[in-house]
This record gives sequence, C-alpha cells and structure tokens, in this order.
Amino acid sequence: MSIRLGDTAPDFTAQTNEGSINFHEWLGESWGVLFSHPKDFTPVCTTELGEASRLKPEFDKRNVKIIGLSVDPADSHNKWAEDIKETQGHALNFPVIADADKKVSDLYEMIHPNANDTFTVRSVFVIGPDKKVKLTLTYPASTGRNFPEILRVIDSLQLTAKYSVATPVNWKDGDDVIIVPAVSDEAAKEKFPGGWKTLKPYLRVVPQPGK
Ligand code: BEZ
Repeated sequence: MSIRLGDTAPDFTAQTNEGSINFHEWLGESWGVLFSHPKDFTPVCTTELGEASRLKPEFDKRNVKIIGLSVDPADSHNKWAEDIKETQGHALNFPVIADADKKVSDLYEMIHPNANDTFTVRSVFVIGPDKKVKLTLTYPASTGRNFPEILRVIDSLQLTAKYSVATPVNWKDGDDVIIVPAVSDEAAKEKFPGGWKTLKPYLRVVPQPGK
C-alpha cells in the first residue's frame, strides 16, 4: 500500500556511506527529507546531489535533515562523491542510503515497475518531527528536481503547522498568506489583531504571521 500524507514514515535500519543508521533515531526531533535517485554515476543524479549539498545550510537553518538513497552499495556512493565534488563544486555533505537489497526502496515504494523495474524513481518524502509524512513528490528519472521548491514547501509546511493559515499559489517566505476557512472572523480577530483583507468571505489575506 502506498504511503499517504499523514501516515507514519516507515522506520528502517540501513547502511549509508556514513555508516549504519536507524531512520527514526537519526531523525530525532528534526524534520526530514528522504529522496531517492535511480543510480550512482548518472548525470542528473550527480547534479541533484551537488545542489542538495550546496543547499544543506538552508535545510539546517530549518531544522531539516536530508538523506538520499540509491540502490548501489556504500563504496560506490563514496567513489561517486568524488565526482560530485569535482563536477558540481560541492562535496556530498549528507548520508546516502546504500539500498543494494532494495529494502528501503520497497518499503517506500520507490520502484515503479512501469517506469523501471530495477531503479528507483525520484521520490521525495518530507517528514515532520512527529514522524508523519507531510509531503510526497514523484519525478521520473529524466527530470531533475527543483531543490529550492522543496525548501519553499518546507517553509509553507512549517508555517502552516504553527499558525491557522494556508499559503497561496507561488507563495514564498515573507509573502501574504490565507486565513484557513475553519477560522471564523470572530476567532480571526484574536489570532490576527492587525487585521486582514477580505476578498471573498472564503478568501481572507493576512500578512505572514511571525515576520
Ligand atoms: C540520471 O540521473 O541522469 C538518469 C538516471 C536514470 C535514467 C535517466 C537519467
């Protein structure tokens, strides 16, 4: 059965290029991003791991741990890391699961047989500190992901977890947000004493709280 939003992220113990980890212990109190790659020594994956390494300080700032996965062994990941540093200008600075037995790929259904019956697709799971799955994304092997978009979604998830708001189309940190319909105008007066703009009774816009 596929993993759905709100499910507990399945726990596992796995080998990585940085040693063995228990996933839930490794996450601790942090948010997490688990993302899969079809294969070591492939071009798109090389660019993705370089970009994720470049953006690691941004994930750290948000209290998010990132971890990759591919179905190759740890010594292969370590050799590939040299190429990532050389070609992308950023050394690999987070663990990559060595899922040669496909245990984690199967657990998270990262292999989509109609796409490829051996390699994982580009899955992304964002996991909250409560270990619940907050976001899933699936990209084909031929399309590299947009890591700034993953950071943007995390900004939205962290904001909406804290305040009774939702984020509109193309929102980015600092933009106005939407008061969720479940909050009445009466309740909104208490939560947003600075006021808001009502475009429709169901569309109320307020400056981003906490800014
Ligand atoms: C890549 O990472 O470049 C890639 C991997 C598998 C299929 C196509 C592209």
